[in-house]
Amino acid sequence: MLQFPPSILTSTSTVIDPGDEVVLFDPSYETYEGCIRMAGGIPVYVALEPPHWTLDPDRFINSFTARTKAVILNSPHNPTGKVFTKDELETIAGACCRRDCMAITDEVYEHITYDNIKHISLASLPGMQERTIITSSLSKTFSVTGWRVGWAIAPAFFASAIRNIHIKITDSAPAPFQEAALTALRSPPEYFEKLRREYESKRDYIVHLIAGIGFQIKFKPRGAFFLFAELPENYLLSDVEYVKELIKQAGVVAVPGCGFFHTTLSTEKLSQVGCSYQERYIRFAFCKSSATLAAAAQKLAELSDAMGCVTGGKNA
Ligand SMILES: Cc1ncc(COP(=O)(O)O)c(C=O)c1O
Repeated sequence: MLQFPPSILTSTSTVIDPGDEVVLFDPSYETYEGCIRMAGGIPVYVALEPPHWTLDPDRFINSFTARTKAVILNSPHNPTGKVFTKDELETIAGACCRRDCMAITDEVYEHITYDNIKHISLASLPGMQERTIITSSLSKTFSVTGWRVGWAIAPAFFASAIRNIHIKITDSAPAPFQEAALTALRSPPEYFEKLRREYESKRDYIVHLIAGIGFQIKFKPRGAFFLFAELPENYLLSDVEYVKELIKQAGVVAVPGCGFFHTTLSTEKLSQVGCSYQERYIRFAFCKSSATLAAAAQKLAELSDAMGCVTGGKNA
């Protein structure tokens, strides 16, 4: 058992030599870039196409160079809730095999998928088991964020290097937490089914709520527990400005989307309010009790009414 952020860090440190390039998708969970840079690597972002966050195979394949060493894949995806499709996974696997690259996967949301979509690990595709390091953790599946207990599953050669590096970074995850992890991981299938169902109903609740106050929801999350929603067209605020108001006036916290973006698409158009699409998304987390979500709903509705005036009109 490893601690989670160190499991990504040890995986990148195992695979990457200084100057190696690592392909990852944009928007992206923020931790990867730091891990790549600490190992001396260079992040190469491939933009996913809004509003459905689709992977353009040509853009992805063209991002490879002679220095590409690995691809980092997070599916289900933070912040968008995208679950990479079988076709997209085949594109990624095909490129890794052809270019002799490793894949490091972050599968922490593997048990949280919606609409009968099943998570597929990249490692299960032909040719990938021997070149994939799977990382995951207890925190999302067993609601123990903060325990920082996770693991890496890798071919033997890499596994021993991971152990070696990890022990020098953090020693090990605390022993009692490892015992608890064993119990948790032996949970019956009904546990995972119930988790999925409960999150799916929270997903539906939050989509309804956020759409109801005028946010543009062109993509409904298919996994993880975030809604990445576009600000209403008539809000003249950027994501950061909106979140500041949300905290100050409503006491509700969300994350401005811009922190997850690292690239701009060449085809990018400015939004109606004159800023780039990367400044128009808000990430709402719905891993909260129904009572907390209902309280937040009330506050959001009040803020939305107030902002209707500030922004010169009611939401669409
Ligand atoms: C994509 C992703 N990977 C990893 C983590 C970290 O997991 P842990 O809580 O086990 O440290 C998070 C937490 O937000 C996450 O969203």
